[in-house]
Amino acid sequence: MKEGIGIGLLGLGVVGGGVAKALRGKGETIARQAGSPLEIKGILERDPAKGPRLNIEPELLTTEAEKIINNPEIDIVIEALGGESPAWEYIRDSILTGKHVVTANKEVMAKHGVELLTLAAEHKVNLLYEASVGGGIPLISPLKQDLLANDISAIYAIINGTTNYILTRMGKEGLDFATALKQAQELGYAEADPSNDVNGTDAAYKLAILATLAFHVEVRPEDVYYEGISRLAPRDFRYAKELGYAIKLLAIAKKEGHSLQIQVHPVFLSEDILLAKVDGVFNAVQIEGDLIGKVLFYGEGAGALPTSSAIIADVICLAQSINLGLSPGLELWLDPNKIVKPVSEIETRYYLRMTVTDRPGVLGQIAKTLGEQLISISSVIQKETDRMAQTAEIVIMTHPAREAAVQKALNEMAALEVVKEISNFIRVED
Ligand code: NAP
Ligand code: HSE
Repeated sequence: MKEGIGIGLLGLGVVGGGVAKALRGKGETIARQAGSPLEIKGILERDPAKGPRLNIEPELLTTEAEKIINNPEIDIVIEALGGESPAWEYIRDSILTGKHVVTANKEVMAKHGVELLTLAAEHKVNLLYEASVGGGIPLISPLKQDLLANDISAIYAIINGTTNYILTRMGKEGLDFATALKQAQELGYAEADPSNDVNGTDAAYKLAILATLAFHVEVRPEDVYYEGISRLAPRDFRYAKELGYAIKLLAIAKKEGHSLQIQVHPVFLSEDILLAKVDGVFNAVQIEGDLIGKVLFYGEGAGALPTSSAIIADVICLAQSINLGLSPGLELWLDPNKIVKPVSEIETRYYLRMTVTDRPGVLGQIAKTLGEQLISISSVIQKETDRMAQTAEIVIMTHPAREAAVQKALNEMAALEVVKEISNFIRVED
């Protein structure tokens, strides 16, 4: 047993601040679990004012990463800086100096995870990253351990709290996107620059991490097809509700034979499905395996305390291994044969909304265009009519169709003289 395990913390923001507070506030409990006390030996932070606000002794703070990375008293480095660089270089250098690392950084793990995990195995240290996906919800550990006996066939996930909050407000209160986003920012759910959340990048990083573990292939961010939520309008939510659906930003990873389908985009989700009931900033991840069937993980996907829960559990796990003299885990085994289906090859149902000239024969022309691409209509509803403009809005639900065929039909319909606007198309997950 070591008398104390030295901790170096990179970043004292929302997550780093939460970790420092919990390490101090729950010191005894954590020491009992870890086998020895965890002692913060240094903190990298640009803003020196953050220390006193969190009752951190000024002498622990530094603006030089080397003082943490090269400190022989530090056994475990916690990276809570965010962003790709310099975070990934600091993780790499910590590994190279023989330190274990815990990170909450989805961008680094999605872009450099395999390389860093391989480096860690070579240097006989561990790199743990439970907090990188779903905040406090256990996801990485179950995929690495508890579900190992399964062939995982699918992951369906709501893994971005900001967008789920915005979509919930749009769906339940009829807010438009800009108003819902503004409120999310005012409440501190969305960041000042919410681009990565809103355009789907954040969820794509998280899905790449989960899919790599689930399917044992290196899924890189560029393998994930993604779309954001900004093109959704209040009327899409109204029509979805009338048809028995909720709209969610869903991260989907499926395995069929050797090929993978990995995408993030808004979907119509049948209201009967549990994931459709996940509202507000909550996250939920459904994993499907041949032995377990379906298992659903639900909880707070962000925030200082839930995220600290995941980070500190990783740290305790490392401290236990250090104290017991255990070797780090096995090297990640990945199948080099990766086939990711382009989105054009997926087959699903679609919701189409368009504005057309309100006169006889128009629906016939639209049905013909869809029929020529072998797209079968499941229902058509004529919604609002504008008598002055002599236009009508129609909503079409299709039977399962190939994405490539739907995109071709949408282009052809947009060119029809009777079609004034293709307003939206949304994939449907029943
Ligand atoms: P944050 O509040 O912006 O904290 C990051 C802190 O690190 C800031 O204080 C920042 O200082 C400091 N920093 C960044 N780069 C630095 C550098 N090169 N040198 C010194 N200090 C530096 O971000 P956060 O929300 O805590 O997120 C941290 C990480 O946790 C990210 O990877 C994020 O994706 C992940 N995460 C966050 C949550 C969450 O709920 N917030 C949940 C799960 C995972 P400045 O402010 O001066 O830039
Ligand atoms: N910005 C993320 C979200 C939280 O809204 O879910 C950190 O992963």
